[in-house]
Amino acid sequence: MTSQSNDAGAFTPYFLATVAVGAISVYAISRALYLLYFHPLSSFPGPRIAAISNIWLSGRYPWAIETALREYGRVVRIAPNELAFFTPEAFTDIYLPHHKNHEIFVKTNFQNRGKDFGGIIWEENPSRHREVARKLSPAFSTRSIRTMEPLVHQYIDYFVAKMKKLGAAPAGVELVKWTNWLAMDLSADLTWNEKMYQMRDSLFPQVKDSVHLDVLLSFNSFATVLQVFKRFPLLSPFQYLFAPMGKVRLFATMEKTIRNSVAWRIEQKGNTEHVDFFDYIVPANSASPTEHREVTHIGSLAFQLMFAGWGPMGDLYYGALVLLIQEPECYKTLTKEIREKFMRPMFKPAYLPSLETQAISTIHFAIDRSDGSLATIHFMTLHSPMIT
Ligand code: HEM
Repeated sequence: MTSQSNDAGAFTPYFLATVAVGAISVYAISRALYLLYFHPLSSFPGPRIAAISNIWLSGRYPWAIETALREYGRVVRIAPNELAFFTPEAFTDIYLPHHKNHEIFVKTNFQNRGKDFGGIIWEENPSRHREVARKLSPAFSTRSIRTMEPLVHQYIDYFVAKMKKLGAAPAGVELVKWTNWLAMDLSADLTWNEKMYQMRDSLFPQVKDSVHLDVLLSFNSFATVLQVFKRFPLLSPFQYLFAPMGKVRLFATMEKTIRNSVAWRIEQKGNTEHVDFFDYIVPANSASPTEHREVTHIGSLAFQLMFAGWGPMGDLYYGALVLLIQEPECYKTLTKEIREKFMRPMFKPAYLPSLETQAISTIHFAIDRSDGSLATIHFMTLHSPMIT
């Protein structure tokens, strides 16, 4: 009896707390030792703290990574399970390797929104990704891009005309808005033949951004918050504190708008004004999808294409314009290089065989020089959506 009561007395709260703290410490130290010396990424340089925790990546994440790259070299361990690369070769090293037609480096779950929403950009399953990529691949062939090129010129010409007219006003123009409108108007038309007319309607004060643009811009930072919380799963319940509550209802409106656009586009099959990406998702001679899952997948895929053709392109138009205006030397070099390389104003993909099968769009801008003369800049942007 005496021995039993002694045993019970040994499990005091103090004792239990000591054991718990001891066990956690042993676990934390063993984990840190494993991550530092035995983990497959342990041979890569980087801040010591990054090898054992994500915690150092607080604040201005891209700048923290940039500093680490400058300090430690071209391949840096930025988190226990992550490397950041700073070489052009990394692009092919990461995106090209395949095994039996499946990518070796599959998508992370950073953007995962659930079943049937993977489309292509968020599709983690390599077999499904491959299937979708194969369908879309011809959309990015040189032939297909050439077919779409006139539409690109049409939108760019409209943008340039508007800039010439409005840019001369004393108030100037809000360039970031205009480049977003340009990129999204063009992308929606290229993707599913929708005319968004954001550039045209911008002059009417009662007309706002499209619901897509409003949602995407409002949720941009929340999307980053979600990705950050993926690194700290225990804290994930707090992520919703950062959601733009005022815009949540808009999200549902956007989804409804997309469903309507997709339904409309399916109806238009074979009767559209011009070829678009949707022709590759649901070809004119194929049966119209009716199953809910398939329609959801198609909606997600179409939206991703529109989104992919807007986001980076809007940034590119804006960044290129601002930087070229700020750096006259670079502007001069670029103009010279382009005028010497291309015989005619329209970009001709055949001149650059290495770019074949990549998605290429061309834009040309007219910019007023400070001496009053007009310069036309032809840009080419390219992108390989990793379709093999
Ligand atoms: C400056 C322009 C662009 C840049 C910098 C860019 C960048 C990227 C990057 C880094 C990825 C890889 C994302 C990942 O690993 O999941 C990606 C994927 C993708 N992009 Fe772009 N992009 C650009 C323009 C475009 C355009 C105009 C389109 C046409 C709609 C497009 C369509 C796609 C698609 C479909 C994917 C998914 C590819 C796949 O998962 O196989 N991109 N883009």
